[in-house]
Amino acid sequence: MFQPSIVHKIKILVFSILCSNSFAQIITIPIETKQNALVLQTDAENRLGIVYFGKKLSKTSEYTGIWNDHKYNDVNAAISHSVYTPSGSWNMIEPALTLIHADGNTSTDLKYVSHKAEKQGENVLLIRILLKDPVYATEIMLFYKTYFAENVIEQWSTIKNNEKGNLKMNKYASANLYFIANNFYLKHYHGGWGREMKPEETKLTAGIKTLDSKLGTRANLFQPPTFSLSFDKPATENEGKVLFGTLAWSGNFKIDFEKDSYYNLRLIAGINSHASEYVLSNNQTFKTPSFIYTYSENGKGEASRNMHQWARKYRILDGEGSRLTLLNNWEATYFDFEEQKLTGLFKDAKKLGVDMFLLDDGWFGNKYPRNDDHAGLGDWQENRKKLPNGIGYLVKEATKAGVKFGIWVEPEMVSPKSELYENHKDWVIRQPERPEHYFRNQLVLDLTNPEVQDYVFGVLDNLFNKNPELAFIKWDANATIFNAHSAYLQKQNLPQTHLYVDYVKGLYKVLERIRAKYPKIPMMLCSGGGGRVDYEALKYFTEFWLSDDTDPLERIFIQWEDSYFFPAISLCNHITDWSKVGIKYRTDVAMMGKMGYDIVVNNLSEKELLFSQNALKKYVELKGTIWHGEMYHLVNPWENPIAAMQFVSQQKDHAVMFSYLTTNRFELSFTSKPIKLEGLDANKQYKVKEINIYPDTESILAKECIYSGEYLMTIGVNPDITLKRTSVVLEINEAK
Ligand code: GLA
Repeated sequence: MFQPSIVHKIKILVFSILCSNSFAQIITIPIETKQNALVLQTDAENRLGIVYFGKKLSKTSEYTGIWNDHKYNDVNAAISHSVYTPSGSWNMIEPALTLIHADGNTSTDLKYVSHKAEKQGENVLLIRILLKDPVYATEIMLFYKTYFAENVIEQWSTIKNNEKGNLKMNKYASANLYFIANNFYLKHYHGGWGREMKPEETKLTAGIKTLDSKLGTRANLFQPPTFSLSFDKPATENEGKVLFGTLAWSGNFKIDFEKDSYYNLRLIAGINSHASEYVLSNNQTFKTPSFIYTYSENGKGEASRNMHQWARKYRILDGEGSRLTLLNNWEATYFDFEEQKLTGLFKDAKKLGVDMFLLDDGWFGNKYPRNDDHAGLGDWQENRKKLPNGIGYLVKEATKAGVKFGIWVEPEMVSPKSELYENHKDWVIRQPERPEHYFRNQLVLDLTNPEVQDYVFGVLDNLFNKNPELAFIKWDANATIFNAHSAYLQKQNLPQTHLYVDYVKGLYKVLERIRAKYPKIPMMLCSGGGGRVDYEALKYFTEFWLSDDTDPLERIFIQWEDSYFFPAISLCNHITDWSKVGIKYRTDVAMMGKMGYDIVVNNLSEKELLFSQNALKKYVELKGTIWHGEMYHLVNPWENPIAAMQFVSQQKDHAVMFSYLTTNRFELSFTSKPIKLEGLDANKQYKVKEINIYPDTESILAKECIYSGEYLMTIGVNPDITLKRTSVVLEINEAK
């Protein structure tokens, strides 16, 4: 049983050993969660290394001797496993820290000075470790925040310039870890617009494998800072040793996996220092973003549930709260709408049965109306032609129709055809001497500039001041940074190499201000699809947009992957007309998260409308389990012709299983096996019934069968997916 009081006693193990003719005091620092331990230990030179990462031992005292059993008989051994590898002195391998000291010297060494543990509530412990260079006054503090029950560690560092002059940082990682195993398998992701989160798993070989981004904003477009790492052999859903890791930073990142000369793995994660040398003036402290990780010896499923529990409880804004279902007009109208059309859509939203109407792009700009994506960004005044009575009128009309009203903004960006651009060219990130280069016909505003921060905050603040009933914000960011140059930094005599970092810090300052004034308003994090999602941004956002690709078949794969790292309550899944697949399939897929619509309700047939209305009513009953329950990936669509996912309530009295055909091959007609459920109580009895049945059709499954939890988890249940039954949802209720 979890006993927080004993757990949070950090044990400092100090003992003396005989080493190279002298007595050195060896300090051992175990950083423990419910199941795991990261153990740090000083060496005879008082440098701190990682001596263990994995399942925790029951006798903490036994950690002290672990490193004696590792025989790496050359001088590099003490370098490879450093907790924060400096450069320029004894280290010859990839560093975590590269400094140019105030006197121009490029060497750094780090020695252990002290550490302390601070309890932050029943479940959370913050351990600080101070390291210092014996020659230079600069101080490095390593932070390890443990979330005991969730087996999550959040790690970051601070660098404090105590030198008399400027300290230049060439590399400043968040985390430096060391893993010992026979082999390492990295599962990472790549993609682009409309094809986010494509996985690849690879056995790491000697040398460095890097995941990184240099895009500035929309930084995940090609690759997210999110991965899983299996030890010894690739982990499966319920077996194997696996670490899930992610960097909480909405800008350029770099994660290096270096298999060293002892076949062990070094991990160095942090801000990408590419073109980002950062200068600290005397007494200034730099805080790196957090690297967040969890480890399981029971496969990827447990690791993902660790992450979900942690994210809901400690990270995502209102992670344990509720969410609004909605009708969005983007794919229904694109830029082509006016007041009357919209008020008609409010009625449609009500008819459908969602909580809210979300007005997307195209509502603003007068001198340069936003009628397509070539103009208007930055001019956040209602377009008088489309909306003669303003947003206020729309909010009132929506309320009259019985739905809430939300709105799309993209406040970090500017169209070259806009009044904002004409009046404030110096607010735009651009190289004055070079031709402009656009991403989606737009440019990025310079958030290093406090005036721009005020402006971006003002976009939202004005909307709320004028329309206090606004219920939701969709915050988009569609461009990357080309021609990185800041007029503001130049004016302040600050290095241009601060731009990528200070942009993100500026963005967080704005979001901080928004949340101080509007703590609860739900906000969707969107970036031309899924171009920006990380656990720092999600402190300020309630949910995120995974991809502009809403084809349900594609979505099964995207949602499958995103749902390892992010809980269902944060995944915005919309039913759209992107594909010709029937409304049932589209709806069933969207239900595995936060459901919304982006369709022309009037185009629905009578039966489709009825199906959708019933599905929304059912969703009200299921959403507690989907949003707050535990998720299980049952059948992997990358390896099978079907996909199945399951959600189980925390009390294990309710569950939902979603299953889909992901191929149209005839072969499927010959084979159909039961799917084993997970996470139920073996001793409970459960009623299983098919739901989301299309009007005038019947389930071919027996009505409300009763099974034991043991049966459902050992033998399973067959949803009977066929070419004619391409999507089946089963509800599992405890039979009381
Ligand atoms: C991005 C978003 C879409 C939509 C458009 C509007 O592509 O991902 O959902 O909001 O912008 O321009």
